[in-house]
Order: sequence, then structure tokens, then C-alpha cells
Amino acid sequence: MSAVIKEAVINFRPMDEQDLTAVLAIENMAYDFPWSRVIFRDCLRVGYCCWVMERDGVVEGYSVMSVAVGESHVLNLCVNPGSHGKGYGGVLLEFMLDIARKHEADTAFLEVRPSNGAAKRLYQQSGFDEVGLRRDYYPARSGREDAIIMARSL
Ligand SMILES: CC(C)(COP(=O)(O)OP(=O)(O)OC[C@H]1O[C@@H](n2cnc3c(N)ncnc32)[C@H](O)[C@@H]1OP(=O)(O)O)[C@@H](O)C(=O)NCCC(=O)NCCS
Repeated sequence: MSAVIKEAVINFRPMDEQDLTAVLAIENMAYDFPWSRVIFRDCLRVGYCCWVMERDGVVEGYSVMSVAVGESHVLNLCVNPGSHGKGYGGVLLEFMLDIARKHEADTAFLEVRPSNGAAKRLYQQSGFDEVGLRRDYYPARSGREDAIIMARSL
């Protein structure tokens, strides 16, 4: 599966264990509280939808999503910080929503930090609405941070 962003050919393929070094390098740059190798391994093991997005054979982003009984949950969606703002996040999100539809999900859910303006805008542009709040859900530099729950129909 592929897409084109400004002449770059973007490919998507299922993530495997061998991708985890590249995935973790991006994860550690992109998040203050990154997932560990163990978490990614568990996601692969339980059969979540784990995909990498490559540009010219180099991993530029990845996403992890669970799908069950008609609901998909985007658990992680991340683009290499050196490539932010070029449209990759939007392409990756739409790709994952297509995967969810193929698994017959009719609703997509995700959580986002109120402080994560870029992600919130990305999700809003894709049609996600705020549907709830989980108090003190995330670790934060000082204490905890809420999670906004967002959802859209597919
Ligand atoms: C959120 C993330 C995936 C967006 O990826 P990206 O490739 O930069 O996003 P895009 O270039 O496709 O931009 C899509 C939209 O997101 C929003 N956006 C992206 N970067 C933004 C920024 N710095 N400030 C505000 N809005 C931003 C805009 O609405 C943008 O649309 P526009 O360019 O038409 O205005 C990326 O910032 C990221 O990987 N962040 C770290 C990991 C993370 O926080 N993931 C989300 C967890 S819930």
C-alpha cells in the first residue's frame, strides 16, 4: 500500500519485531513518556494492528490500533519529529482508519493530552469530536495530565 506526499513515495507495511529499534528511536524523540520495547512487543504479540510508514525505505512513522466488536482504538500514532508538519500524520491516520473499516469497525476512539495541540488539531481535522475526559490519565512532568477522549464514526 502506498501514497505520495510531495514526490516522496510513502509505503505502509505491518510492523514486526525487527522494526522496533527504528520505532523506539522515533518514540523516544517524540514523547516525554515513551512506550517501552516491552509494550510494543506485547502489542505485536496480542495481534493489534501495528503498521509502519516508510519513506524511501526509512521508517517515518507508525501506529498501533486495537479493533474489536465494531470499535477501533488508536493507541499510538507517531511521526518522526524531523518530519512533522509535512502531512505524514494525516496520511498515517487516514490509513489506520481505512484498516479499521476493513476490520468492520464503525467507530474510532483515541485519547489525547489537552497539551498536545498538534495531535488535537490533526484529529479534529479528521472528524474526531471530544466525547469525554479521563482525569489524571497520563503521567506528566509535574503530576498527572487528563486525557481527552475523542471519537468519530467510520
Ligand atoms: C501528532 C502528529 C502525529 C502529527 O503529525 P504531522 O505529520 O506533523 O501532522 P501533519 O503534517 O499531517 O498535520 C496534520 C494536521 O495536524 C495539525 N498539526 C500538525 N502539526 C501541528 C503543529 N505543530 N501545531 C498545530 N497543529 C499541527 C494541523 O491541523 C495539520 O493540518 P494542516 O497542516 O492542514 O494545518 C505528530 O506531531 C507526532 O508524531 N507527535 C508526537 C506523537 C504524538 O503526540 N502522537 C499523538 C498521540 S495522541
